[in-house]
Amino acid sequence: MTGGAGFLGSHLCDRLVEARNEVLCVDNFFTGTKRNVAHLLGNPYFELQRHDVTFPLYVEVEQIYNLACPASPIHYQFDPVQTTKTSVHGAINMLGLAKRVKARILQASTSEVYGDPEIHPQVEGYWGRVNPIGIRSCYDEGKRCAETLFFDYYRQHRLDIKVVRIFNTYGPRMHPNDGRVVSNFIVQALKGGDITVYGDGQQTRSFCYVDDLIEAIIRMMKSGANLPGPINLGNPSEFTMLELVEKIIGFTFSKSRVVHLPLPSDDPRQRQPDITLAREKLMWEPKVSLDDGLKETIAYFRRVLSDAGP
Ligand SMILES: NC(=O)c1ccc[n+]([C@@H]2O[C@H](COP(=O)([O-])OP(=O)(O)OC[C@H]3O[C@@H](n4cnc5c(N)ncnc54)[C@H](O)[C@@H]3O)[C@@H](O)[C@H]2O)c1
Repeated sequence: MTGGAGFLGSHLCDRLVEARNEVLCVDNFFTGTKRNVAHLLGNPYFELQRHDVTFPLYVEVEQIYNLACPASPIHYQFDPVQTTKTSVHGAINMLGLAKRVKARILQASTSEVYGDPEIHPQVEGYWGRVNPIGIRSCYDEGKRCAETLFFDYYRQHRLDIKVVRIFNTYGPRMHPNDGRVVSNFIVQALKGGDITVYGDGQQTRSFCYVDDLIEAIIRMMKSGANLPGPINLGNPSEFTMLELVEKIIGFTFSKSRVVHLPLPSDDPRQRQPDITLAREKLMWEPKVSLDDGLKETIAYFRRVLSDAGP
């Protein structure tokens, strides 16, 4: 598991260790933290290795989940060259490893490959509308190039690949100040400061709770070899930013005020997955409601902010 000490990676480690798989968690701790996997350290099914995926990795494994990559704009724009390298060199290194040890390999791709989409909701066949030279391009184009590499290894070397396109996911162990909208709003509400909404707040997003997403990723990894993807994974229920803020203020009993700031450049207006393929091929759909997921996430951030730790 590359990026195994991150938000999604650590939940995947939990699920796989629980099912008695031997998990090697590889991470350079750029955005991930040992705290996310500390509870697994004494477990004989779990091993943690500090490693940067832009360098080759020589290990013996049967399956690879390639999640390493900073996922929030604040972090991926911090060192954009390194972000592209992580996606592209990381994919090359992990695909090389998969080829050498004949492992099945899953790529955590993203809805950002659709850019600012002209069609709504987005289906896997849509090629996207991405700015190749903007401030988000290091992430978007890095992920697009990684998908290209996966499919070239699939065609050229008959590698057993799986590509999932993940839409906005939230839950416990998200980074408290990485600028992602759910964690941002929750932390601001819990601290009682202003809640910053970009633009008029009418832009929509769909939010998937982490447990639902992890279930889908594991189903994809277990699916037949005739399903390389790409496959959309996310929750199609759509909410405006203002609706999200209202819910969070309600659940936290916060006195925060909402303030509006200008929209960042290349920020998509709408994003919603079409998950017909995942429903048909993985027999999967999200089960956790936004209300229930938010309550779990708020409880987590309350613990983190109270110094007691997660
Ligand atoms: N969370 C989401 O909503 C979402 C949506 C779409 C795609 N994804 C993808 O899922 C994956 C995991 O995202 P996340 O939300 O858990 O983010 P995260 O930042 O919490 O996790 C990424 C992990 O990768 C590690 N990492 C970064 N660069 C690395 C490198 N060069 N070598 C080794 N490790 C490195 C980080 O330290 C971190 O532990 C990412 O690839 C991301 O692009 C996430």
